[in-house]
Amino acid sequence: MKYDVVFIGSGPAGYFGAIRAAQLGLKTACVEKHSRLGGTCLNVGCIPSKTLLATTEHYEWMMKEAQGQGIVCKELSLDYAAMMKRKEDVVISLTNGIAGLFKKNQVDSIKGTARFTSPTTIQVNSETIESANFVISTGSEPIELPFLKFNEKKVLSSTGALSLPAAPKKMLIIGAGAIGVELASVYSRQGTEITIVEMLDKITPTMDAQVSRTLQQILKKQGLNFILSAQVTKAEVKDNVSLEIKLNDQTQTLTADCVLVAVGRWPFTKELGLDKVGIQPDKRGFIAVDKQFRTSVPNIYAIGDVIEGPMLAHKAFREGMVAAEIIAGRKAQINYLSVPNVIYTNPEVAAVGLTEQEAKELGIETKIGMSHFRGNARARCIGVNEGFVKVIGDKATDRLVGVHIIGQSASEMIGEAALAMELNTTITKMAETPYAHPTLSEAIKEACLGALGRAIES
Ligand code: FAD
Ligand code: NAI
Repeated sequence: MKYDVVFIGSGPAGYFGAIRAAQLGLKTACVEKHSRLGGTCLNVGCIPSKTLLATTEHYEWMMKEAQGQGIVCKELSLDYAAMMKRKEDVVISLTNGIAGLFKKNQVDSIKGTARFTSPTTIQVNSETIESANFVISTGSEPIELPFLKFNEKKVLSSTGALSLPAAPKKMLIIGAGAIGVELASVYSRQGTEITIVEMLDKITPTMDAQVSRTLQQILKKQGLNFILSAQVTKAEVKDNVSLEIKLNDQTQTLTADCVLVAVGRWPFTKELGLDKVGIQPDKRGFIAVDKQFRTSVPNIYAIGDVIEGPMLAHKAFREGMVAAEIIAGRKAQINYLSVPNVIYTNPEVAAVGLTEQEAKELGIETKIGMSHFRGNARARCIGVNEGFVKVIGDKATDRLVGVHIIGQSASEMIGEAALAMELNTTITKMAETPYAHPTLSEAIKEACLGALGRAIES
């Protein structure tokens, strides 16, 4: 069987790309080695983590906030097994959904591990598959620390931490990035005592510094312990886990039932036989591509976590679409400045465009507007008051260069900011758009008014 294009890996990059390629009339297949389609995102990433975050957020709200709104619940408990079963059900329904979409769009779904035998052939199981083009969308895997090998019982990667048999009493987390703070929230809401050890002097380091500081303060109030600027130097794993950490030239030992190592992810290419086609990943394992996602071999493309850039599902989705369009002979591109980034803690954190620090480093003279949710009418109605919207504009051109939100539903609000970035719009246009009232997103308009020196409500 000869294809026009074969995607290797069925995560967000591969399945979106394959469906779009088939829609464009290309004879398309997608090879997946895992028994279920959907990659990291659907099976052990975005979807299971957001499902557990949703359930535990409802639970925490019932415990801490409901009474304040007159809702009286005499007995409340969390059925851990039922929560985990629902998470599995959500994952299975969504992965089955991709199988259905492949059928509907006539994408051939091939089970097995793909290995290049030449630039136009791969081997899957014992079969040779020929294609004019290949797209590598093999994703990433968790980084392991040399002295803490994952066993998914005591030393957990995010995969293990999403399927624990019960909530531990005490958990250590190495790394205060997206996985660290999200999974800390899942377990701390169930009573687990959590300490997060981070090597940098701030949590969620890619976020705007003001947002990171605020998030840290709020999470601390929720009971999370942070040890920043610390290095884990040794570990002992027996019935418990002990970590030796170095902080300000002093050494201390931390002990817990288990440790989650969340220090980032590596691109995953090791089973592809890249040497057979002369593709050499860089020192960190990323595959180099041009703006059209072509590798050093012109008919082999690479997209998603396996290439440089933020490791995000929606970035992978867009790259999949763009690669499909390009292979079909059309023009398409991705604007990385309009790719949002969300952390699903409570409150959520969401950002798009440049941080204040990045704008400064680029020499952009900025105008900044802030609006705090405590002054927002809808936030009062809902009963939330933490967080703010911060908008950053270019003083010279009025162009919007970044939006940073910490607050309830930030993940939903960031969509309009991403659209605004994509449309290259101005702070004035945003400030003069009539927003529905009362809504949380009015805080975006208010922050824009603030940037123009015309704030009304804050
Ligand atoms: P992947 O999803 O990793 O898919 C790659 C696929 O390729 C896998 O299914 C793998 O089995 C397959 N494969 C690998 N090698 C071969 C081979 N040789 N042959 C055949 N198949 C192969 N991102 C967000 O945007 N929002 C979130 O909320 C979010 N939450 C996350 C939570 C966690 C705990 C984790 C770990 C990640 C999260 N991410 C989130 C990141 C997101 O999951 C990834 O950015 C995304 O899955 C990358 O998509 P991909 O298609 O590049 O790779
Ligand atoms: P990350 O890159 O987001 O954070 C890793 C953190 O670990 C950083 O703060 C880093 O400074 C710290 N760190 C690194 N080495 C360390 C060490 N030896 N000791 C202590 N701290 C150390 O990576 P994370 O959280 O593992 O997530 C992996 C990827 O998955 C991210 O790129 C992220 O984009 C994606 N993801 C996205 C989510 C979302 O969009 N909501 C949720 C979860 C993951």
